[in-house]
Amino acid sequence: MAETLYIPENASRKEVYDSIIPQIEGLLSGETDEIANLSNFVAALKEAFDFFWVGFYIKRENQLVLGPFQGPIACTRINFDKGVCGFTYRTKETVIVPNVDEFPGHIACSSASKSEIVLPVFDKNGEVLMVLDVDSDKLDDFSEVDKEGLEQLVKILEKTF
Ligand code: SME
Repeated sequence: MAETLYIPENASRKEVYDSIIPQIEGLLSGETDEIANLSNFVAALKEAFDFFWVGFYIKRENQLVLGPFQGPIACTRINFDKGVCGFTYRTKETVIVPNVDEFPGHIACSSASKSEIVLPVFDKNGEVLMVLDVDSDKLDDFSEVDKEGLEQLVKILEKTF
């Protein structure tokens, strides 16, 4: 796999997902190193969509700890009972937050972050290993298109564990 991502220009978000999904599959396949794969995964999403912040919070003992990410510096540790990330860890379901100010317990790493989507990432036993957190500086920036596209991408990532 060439280390260049092709991103269609003037395309809808759905078209961009359709284009990058097989490319990210190619990028991750054959590599089992977790840090390498998580790093390329978030770099590809940043390059494709220019999200404000995209990264992983990884379960370490009794907290979620910052993993590979792209964007401004962020909080390093999140308790399971805090924030959208903690909520996603507990419920094991994708959460779309159209307005972070209206989400009880949202952790404001940056006041520029206005909406977000967080997805659980599972190990082979169905336990949540980490969460994928994508933040936007626009209100209501995430839809079912993102949920479906990112869930497909997370499934590709899970196959590498
Ligand atoms: N959005 C998260 C906090 C992490 S930062 O946004 C990078 C939350 O409330 O869980």
